[in-house]
Amino acid sequence: MAEANDQTPGDVLVIFGLTGDLAKVMTFRSLYRLESRGILSTPIVGVAVDDWSLDKLRDHARACIEHTGEQVDDEIFARFANRLSYVSGDFNDPQTYAKVKDAIGEATTPVYYLEIPPFLFGTVVSGLGEAEAIRDGRVVVEKPFGHDLASARALNDQLHEHLPEGKLLRIDHFLGKMGLEELLYLRFANTMLEPVWNRNYVKAVQITMAENLDVADRGHFYDPVGALRDVVVNHMLQLLAAAAMEAPPSQDAKTLKDHQYAVFAAMRPGNPKHYVRGQYQGYRDVAGVSPDSETETFAAVRFEVDNWRWAGVPFFLRTGKCLPVKQTEVRLVFRKPPKLGFTDHQHRPEEPGQIVVRLDPMTGVRMRVDAKRADKKKPALIDLDMTFAEEGGEGPTPYEVLLSDALAGRSQRFTRQDAVMEQWRIVQPLLDDPPPVIEYPPGTWGPAAADELVKHHGGWHAPWLPA
Ligand code: BG6
Repeated sequence: MAEANDQTPGDVLVIFGLTGDLAKVMTFRSLYRLESRGILSTPIVGVAVDDWSLDKLRDHARACIEHTGEQVDDEIFARFANRLSYVSGDFNDPQTYAKVKDAIGEATTPVYYLEIPPFLFGTVVSGLGEAEAIRDGRVVVEKPFGHDLASARALNDQLHEHLPEGKLLRIDHFLGKMGLEELLYLRFANTMLEPVWNRNYVKAVQITMAENLDVADRGHFYDPVGALRDVVVNHMLQLLAAAAMEAPPSQDAKTLKDHQYAVFAAMRPGNPKHYVRGQYQGYRDVAGVSPDSETETFAAVRFEVDNWRWAGVPFFLRTGKCLPVKQTEVRLVFRKPPKLGFTDHQHRPEEPGQIVVRLDPMTGVRMRVDAKRADKKKPALIDLDMTFAEEGGEGPTPYEVLLSDALAGRSQRFTRQDAVMEQWRIVQPLLDDPPPVIEYPPGTWGPAAADELVKHHGGWHAPWLPA
């Protein structure tokens, strides 16, 4: 499969939808931070339907950056603002693409970033293609990539009419999280971990992506989508792939993506019997949500990876809005030892050994072991914790990583079509035959049925929260 890893740096960044919501909360700040680190070197062209002046766009950019809590340095902001230009136009009007072409001038490798609703991807890519404005450049699109297997296929076909796969970069911002890289590195850089990281030693894997916030003002977006489509099919399956894949023998994009793909290809389609859907109380009152909505704001599901490393090991995933905490982790639960005859009390640990890799809110690794301590009569569980980000300040945010990669022509952290299709294949039976949605009170861990799912596998383990 072709790769977008030509490594030719982009010479202009064109952002469709720069006046929209994602830009407001994410893009301006990320670009400003790239500017402050000296990583930005291209002009930036914003394209949107709003009839704005360039001054208005610049003022808006500054307000958005400040609103995220970022301290704005006047000199850095002036440098950033000078890169900006603006094209206003309707995405259905060929004139808009003629104006974009003018705005990019002689650029040979434009990077087009589409932060617009997915139903417009095809229109914009066709417009750019027909105006011959893509040149040797690439197009970056935001999720969702379809809303089921058939629509994902149709979207791909539509994009491929004007764009080979190698020029398409699909954002799943979890792939821009440092924690995912740390997980992969930890697994394979430590000879003591790799040999036990499989079905011979691991009894189950639990992946939690908990959010304590509600859907806030995103009711219109969220209600037709729900947790399975919003985060399970993409972000959580990427976490699963990082926990389950084989070691990529080289760092090129193709090798890495082939290894991710191999995990998805080995997964059985989800079984609706092993799927629990919840909805927090009060969700139906959110603006933009249908009063009789059956959309899930909580999902817990069991998946299986049918290969030599993992066959027989259940992967339990759970996510939800309005849960008690915001926290994301991957947890390996090891098999229990036999009874220990050599101790007085025939001790068996109350919980099996575990390795936890936490991605949010602070990346780190925990080993939970059973041990004897001089000051205690009986053995007990002890946590050996290491927080990667304890010192050394804040790392780059996922969007900084992904935007700078897109500009540089590095495609390792973007998803490939074959993986996206596999992800939809895996969840399609859950979409076709969803179990009823069960209410849960905000601030709890979802419906009790989610506990049933893991009843014979030691239950859900409480997430590792920062001290
Ligand atoms: C987004 C989802 O993709 O990821 C949101 O649309 C979710 O609903 C968000 O809140 C979570 O991202 P993060 O980086 O805050 O864990």
